[in-house]
Amino acid sequence: MIVPGDVLDFYRGRRVLVTGGLGFIGSNLARRLVELGGEVVLVDSLIPEYGGNRANIAGIEDAVRVNVSDVRDEHSLPSLLSGQEVLFNLAGQTSHVDSLHDPFTDLDINCRSQLSILEACRRECPDAKIVFASTRQLYGRPRYLPVDEEHPLAPVDPNGVNKAAGEAYHLVYGRVYGLRSAVLRLTNTYGPRMRVKDDRQTFLGTWLRLAVEGEELQIFGDGSQRRDFTYVDDAVDAFLLAGVRSEADGEVFNLGGEASVSLLELAELLIEVAGGGSYRVVPFPEERRSIDIGDYVADDRKIRERLGWQPSVVLRDGLARSLDYYREHAAEYW
Ligand SMILES: NC(=O)c1ccc[n+]([C@@H]2O[C@H](COP(=O)([O-])OP(=O)(O)OC[C@H]3O[C@@H](n4cnc5c(N)ncnc54)[C@H](O)[C@@H]3O)[C@@H](O)[C@H]2O)c1
Repeated sequence: MIVPGDVLDFYRGRRVLVTGGLGFIGSNLARRLVELGGEVVLVDSLIPEYGGNRANIAGIEDAVRVNVSDVRDEHSLPSLLSGQEVLFNLAGQTSHVDSLHDPFTDLDINCRSQLSILEACRRECPDAKIVFASTRQLYGRPRYLPVDEEHPLAPVDPNGVNKAAGEAYHLVYGRVYGLRSAVLRLTNTYGPRMRVKDDRQTFLGTWLRLAVEGEELQIFGDGSQRRDFTYVDDAVDAFLLAGVRSEADGEVFNLGGEASVSLLELAELLIEVAGGGSYRVVPFPEERRSIDIGDYVADDRKIRERLGWQPSVVLRDGLARSLDYYREHAAEYW
């Protein structure tokens, strides 16, 4: 989308902190904020299993302040947050399977730390705007499609439960303490700078790597599961808009994509765009079957109508741009 001028102007000289800022979405957001003239601080723990990667800020490293720290360390938060005007809160443990194996780490990062961040905000930067990165995983297995924000929350794994609590704290701190928080419930987001080493972030990361290598992709189930995808630049637009617009305060918005596809259609499109590779449909590994949500398609009319958000990158183009990026930067991501 063409982001309106007032939104672009807003970030010039603005003190902005991005938690998870060396990760996939956080670093793409940081790059845009630097372009817009923001004074940007990135907080990231750089835990090797997560999506943080110093290569993600190549070219802007001198234009941002990086603070390698863990949001579980509640003592470092007040000084980081003091004087900040906008907080994009994206730090998170993103793997659903990891949250089954180690639910307490997920709890500490996605739930407890969120409370610590909000406590620090209410003391150190009570007027800051906060945008929290939530997830469609909160809805669990959809009861109807497309899924709007009124859909019941029924997460299927500890990650979804903890993200739901993290999200709820943001809204509660808005109601009780007047913090201006907005929540974006993201669907599968993809593009340059995502983790492709493994499927901790999304299966599509692995698929992109395998497609670049001309290898076989595996589709779990029968491939008929429908999904929607947001290209990362479009997701960044949504964060920028939510960070500026007061209509977003206290609100929850789904982000979707341009159109939904089945996993089979996605695999075929990816292989066509990559010009190589193949796919095989295999049975679900048991653990993954237990947390699979079936079909998911977001109803994202609310953010389109209220904030004027609109995705502009169609799946074919987004996949092509992602493949180009990883062909060029394989060494930093494999
Ligand atoms: N990518 C998606 O499809 C998607 C979908 C739904 C929700 N989200 C949410 O968006 C946010 C960003 O996700 P992403 O895809 O960029 O993943 P990512 O893993 O690339 O980014 C998360 C970042 O948070 C950092 N981090 C993790 N724990 C931390 C801690 N304790 N202290 C400080 N930093 C920590 C990681 O190092 C990483 O850089 C996450 O909160 C995630 O739950 C992403």
